[in-house]
Amino acid sequence: MTMQPAVEIRDLEKAYPARFSLFGQTRPAVHALKRVSMAVPAGRTLGIVGESGCGKTTLARCLVGLIRPSGGAIQVEGRPIAELAAAGPKALGTTVQYVFQDPLSSLNPRKTIRQILSAPLRFLVGMGAGDREARLVELMRSVDLEPTFLDRYPHEFSGGQAQRVGIARALAAGARIIVLDEPVSALDVSVQVQVLRLLVDLKRRHGLTYVFISHDLAVVEAIADEVAVMQAGEVVETGPPVRLFQAPDHPYTRRLIASVPTLAS
Ligand SMILES: Nc1ncnc2c1ncn2[C@@H]1O[C@H](COP(=O)(O)OP(=O)(O)OP(=O)(O)O)[C@@H](O)[C@H]1O
Ligand SMILES: [Mg+2]
Repeated sequence: MTMQPAVEIRDLEKAYPARFSLFGQTRPAVHALKRVSMAVPAGRTLGIVGESGCGKTTLARCLVGLIRPSGGAIQVEGRPIAELAAAGPKALGTTVQYVFQDPLSSLNPRKTIRQILSAPLRFLVGMGAGDREARLVELMRSVDLEPTFLDRYPHEFSGGQAQRVGIARALAAGARIIVLDEPVSALDVSVQVQVLRLLVDLKRRHGLTYVFISHDLAVVEAIADEVAVMQAGEVVETGPPVRLFQAPDHPYTRRLIASVPTLAS
């Protein structure tokens, strides 16, 4: 029996139409994804790298059902994403979740952490108030935050702490596939390492599958089992990080590696 991949993307296409205003065309049409195919086995991490504008966020948003692709197919745990999306937020939100780049702006400033983390428990899991408190405490502990912080507001947190809340929110509904779009890019380097360690630990403990997007090759090398390199909406090369970064096949991958700033002369 062959193992079904947790995520399977086939010939994915996304075109954003041109936008027009009274003053003419304000934004040209963009073919953001061109026949993108990839698969992620359960329990593994696929890293996605590529320069700004190559389509990474577009891919991530298609994967979690936030935007509709123009063509191709996405299956998560063997089910088409369109079918999950049509079945409603519960089906989708208990299967695949998203962690955003900017932790603070992704958390509602007027809600306490308790309210933020309670929402997926109430609306996606259907957990009653009686059971929620213990689960909230468990979620906070699982991302190394004090349960007493539940009554704080997002602005009372550092960037790293806020991203831990973002991660806890993604875990709350028990989804096993997590799409992380530049999850540590907004954090200080020392904090990046802590959050990456936490992600590795959570993945092991909960058997999670990650799609991990970053423009930072060192971060992807540290966390991914397999890497896909994207350029202008296409996957130009895939491979395990050690092979890919030491002996890149594609000229674009070579250029990407060469463009990493270094202090060594
Ligand atoms: N809502 C939208 N409407 C029109 N064009 C869009 C939209 N979102 C993204 N694009 C365009 O699609 C292309 C891919 O954008 P996307 O945000 O997916 O890239 P990215 O790889 O995530 O870039 P970055 O590294 O800067 O986050 C870009 O040319 C972008 O301008
Ligand atoms: Mg992006």
